[in-house]
Parts: sequence; structure tokens; C-alpha cells
Amino acid sequence: MARKLKLSEMPEAEISAALMQHGGDVTRAALMLGVSRTGLYAHLAAQTKAAVAVVVAAPVAAARVNVRIKEMKVPAQPVESPAPLLRAVEARREERRASREERPSPLGESGPYMGEIFGVHGTRAPRVGAPVSRRHIRVLAIGDSHFHPGLPQTMRCMALIGHHAAATRPEHIVHIGDGSDWNSVCRHTRNDTYKARVKPSIRQDLENFRENWDMLNAPMDAAGVTSSRHYTMGNHDAWLESFEDSTPELRGMATGERDSILARAGWTNTAYGEFYFLGGVGFVHVPLNLMGKPAGGATPENSIATQATHDIVFGHTHRYNACRRVKMGFANQVTVVNTGGAMPEFYVGDYAQNTQGSAMTSGVLDIDIFDGRIQGNRLVTMRELETRYGHLVP
Ligand SMILES: [Fe+2]
Repeated sequence: MARKLKLSEMPEAEISAALMQHGGDVTRAALMLGVSRTGLYAHLAAQTKAAVAVVVAAPVAAARVNVRIKEMKVPAQPVESPAPLLRAVEARREERRASREERPSPLGESGPYMGEIFGVHGTRAPRVGAPVSRRHIRVLAIGDSHFHPGLPQTMRCMALIGHHAAATRPEHIVHIGDGSDWNSVCRHTRNDTYKARVKPSIRQDLENFRENWDMLNAPMDAAGVTSSRHYTMGNHDAWLESFEDSTPELRGMATGERDSILARAGWTNTAYGEFYFLGGVGFVHVPLNLMGKPAGGATPENSIATQATHDIVFGHTHRYNACRRVKMGFANQVTVVNTGGAMPEFYVGDYAQNTQGSAMTSGVLDIDIFDGRIQGNRLVTMRELETRYGHLVP
């Protein structure tokens, strides 16, 4: 039997031919070549001399390494006809119109969102009285994952998390938002700057989002996991709404496809800043203060727990933390937990190089809820996930 060739041993012409044959679809080309998708992405990134280096499962000595994305050249993605996607989006919207999910918004049908980032204020029905459950609920909370087409390592993280969900079978799974960087529509990088030259296209961002989402869902689907799946939009996700708001001709194109990718994989979602309640505990990307700004400071968990009147799970800062504040009254207390991030270990995005560094956390949270409160939470680090499930991810 002929020995199977490794990627490094394969003639470039053969790899190119496979990509050409599949219209640039890396997943299908990898299948045809008999290599892993992440391996092929990494190979292509190396070929295009992308200066992306991420230390995954590196020795502790590497903990001080901050990785900066200096240049991201990503493989060309095929431009598919948007028609089937738009039909799927329209079908999803019809569903939402017919269901109680639909809430009035003067901004159209992409759903309401907070005006903090856009200077536009949506109106929505107030949510009065969070449903409280006395039975034990187990939730897997996934923090900010910040996918980027130049960072294929996030796919491995998603696969590891998918295997963790398959092994632990929580009743609910919540991704706390900022699933992708959405650098294509980055609000902080003007298109006439040098930095903007390495922005991916919206199409590439969406395709990369879909591929990462596939990696997360595949192990769960294969194991028949029936957990509810929910995504709370983050500030980076809301950049898409902001972009469409300033480019009205494209309204619904990118947000619709993003929502469609989530919906097709069985994920519901709530808008940026909106609470999603499970057993009386509110899940949100980041709680907004009374001025509509994200709760901030070095340890926002403290100020949130001081002000809030129900338990909260949030992300945004990429730093795991838990805070319990006892209030006046009988058995009255509030617990606030920060999920931390779910990015590759030691990876620090360009936007956070000088502010977050090695203080970032990488992993997921197993949370126990009963009596309307967070009773326990456990950070399962990305390294622990690698130790437990690494052998299942090629
Ligand atoms: Fe984030």
C-alpha cells in the first residue's frame, strides 16, 4: 500500500489543483488530499508568508509571549451566489415574525440592539421578571472566541469545546459573543490607512465564521447532544449592524448571513446588550450601565455585582473572574462570573496587545444553576481541554 503523503511532501501543483477543482474551498480540498483542514489552512498561511504565529499548548515559558498579527493574507474564498443564503435568512425571519422572538424595532428586522455603539436607540418590550428555576441546570458557557481568517488555530479550540460539550452534555450551551473579530468591518481601522490593507473581506469573515461554527457543532451533532444553543451578540458582532447602518444598500446582507449561519446550526441569539435568562441567571456579552456604555474598570465584576439584582454571566474582557456580593436582607446576594475568552492559549489580538497580554484567560466555564442563582462555576482551561480531548481532534 502506498505511503500517505504529508502536506510538506506534497507537490504544490497537486495542492493547487485540489483547490482549483473545488473553487478554493479549503475544506473540500483538504478532504480530497487526505489532510486535515487546519493543516491545509496553516500550510496556505505559510505559503503566503502570513506573519501569524500562535503558540498552542506551548510550554509555560512561552506564557509571556504575546503574539501580534502583523500581516494576514488569507486564502481566496469562492464567492457563492447569495441567493440560497438569502432565502434561508428570509425563512428564518418569517419564523421570527411568527414567533414571540420578534420584538418591535424601528431599525428593521435584524433585531433590536443597543444604541451605545451606533448612536441609534431601538425600542423593545421590557423583560419583566426573569424566569427562575429551582431545579438544577447545567450550562456550558463559551467566552469570546474572536475568529479571524488569518488565525486557523481557533478551529481547533472550537473542536475541543465541541468534544467537551459532547462528553459533559450540559442542558444549555451559551456562547457569550464576539465569536468573530469581524475585522472586515472594524470600526477602529479606517479604510484609507495602511493597517486597513490587511483587513479580510466580509465574505472571508463570514466563511471563516461558518467554518469555525461547523467545528464547534460537529462533535456535538455526531454525539447526538440535544443541549439548547444560544449566542449573545458582542460588540464586535454589532460592528456588522453598524456597518450596514452606514451602508444602507447592504442592509441585512452581512447580518442576515451571520444570523443564518447561527440558525442553521440550531443557535438562537439575542442582541448586543440584551440579557438571555436561564434559571433566573442573566447571560450577556457585557452588561451596559445606565448610560448605555459597557461596564468597565479593572474588575468590572465588582461594580456589576454591586449594582445588579440578579446573577450575571458575561464575557468581553477575556479575563475569568467571579465575584459574590452580599446584599442587605435575608440570604440576599448576587454572583457575577466572567467567562474569560475561548481563544487559542497565549494568543492576544492586535487590539489588546498592550492592555490585556498574559492576563487573558483561555477556556470555557461549566456552570451550575439552581434556586435562581449561580451555585458553582468551574473554569476548564484550553490546555485542560487539549489534554482531555486533543486526541480526538486531528
Ligand atoms: Fe471580545
